Amino acid sequence: MNGPSGNVPTIGVFDSGFGGLTVLRALIARMPQARFAFLGDTARLPYGSKSRRTIARYAVQSAQFLVNEQGAEYLVIACNTASALALDAIQEAVPVPVLGVIEPGAAAARAASTTRDVLVVATDATVHSHAYSAACQAQGLRALEKACPLLVPLVEEGWTSHPVTAEVIRIYLDELRADAATRGMSADTLVLGCTHYPLLRPLIQQVLDGCGPCAIRVIDSAESTAEAAVKLFNGRTANATGLTAHTEIRCFATDSVEKFERLGSRFLERPVGRVELIDLGG
Ligand code: DGL
Repeated sequence: MNGPSGNVPTIGVFDSGFGGLTVLRALIARMPQARFAFLGDTARLPYGSKSRRTIARYAVQSAQFLVNEQGAEYLVIACNTASALALDAIQEAVPVPVLGVIEPGAAAARAASTTRDVLVVATDATVHSHAYSAACQAQGLRALEKACPLLVPLVEEGWTSHPVTAEVIRIYLDELRADAATRGMSADTLVLGCTHYPLLRPLIQQVLDGCGPCAIRVIDSAESTAEAAVKLFNGRTANATGLTAHTEIRCFATDSVEKFERLGSRFLERPVGRVELIDLGG
């Protein structure tokens, strides 16, 4: 895994916004000696309500920035929507290994589920692509997906423990569980199929706990993606010797640098530092 940047590879991490910092956080925990370049395409967020064609165009431009201008030798597509609708287009557009979040999420669901029935919550575009259903089916699982379009704006607003958000989650999960019941599913696992949802995990868990003894396990694809990245990138940065455990992170955004700096630390659980503004065109 030696790359042009020398001993330490640069890993590019891309999201439509700064929610993907939850994936970066999980990557740093496993590869503290790597260099990371994170791009949040904040000017064009949300991707989750857009068409495949538009999502692919935006995602390819973002991936090319990380590879061509930041020298990324590996790419992690932290955005579920871009992973679901544009992974092939990105892989064709850049000459480096590219990892999305869908397959690691499905693999984690398989490891967690004993009933083989899983629930997936995600953006509208991700749900309509049925990428999670396909990935779960490949793992021998039956998946039922639900779009939860109100959750991204609530997280963006910082309402991660607000009663309104709890009520919205309760309504979505009630509908999803009722739908699962009518299909005769006995789901024991819930996949958080969106970068923003890990920030709602305590509320989601609280709502699930309030549903009685249903014992649904919550899967955060950020963690399973970071595990998959270590395997794909040969774990070299995790095991590197003779290097100090110093993580180098550069963050780029296409808009709202101030908001990124302010809210990003909540996702990364450490200060994001100075975020650089870039222009990817239209
Ligand atoms: N990053 C997106 C995802 O994980 C959520 C935000 C958006 O819709 O752009 O699906």
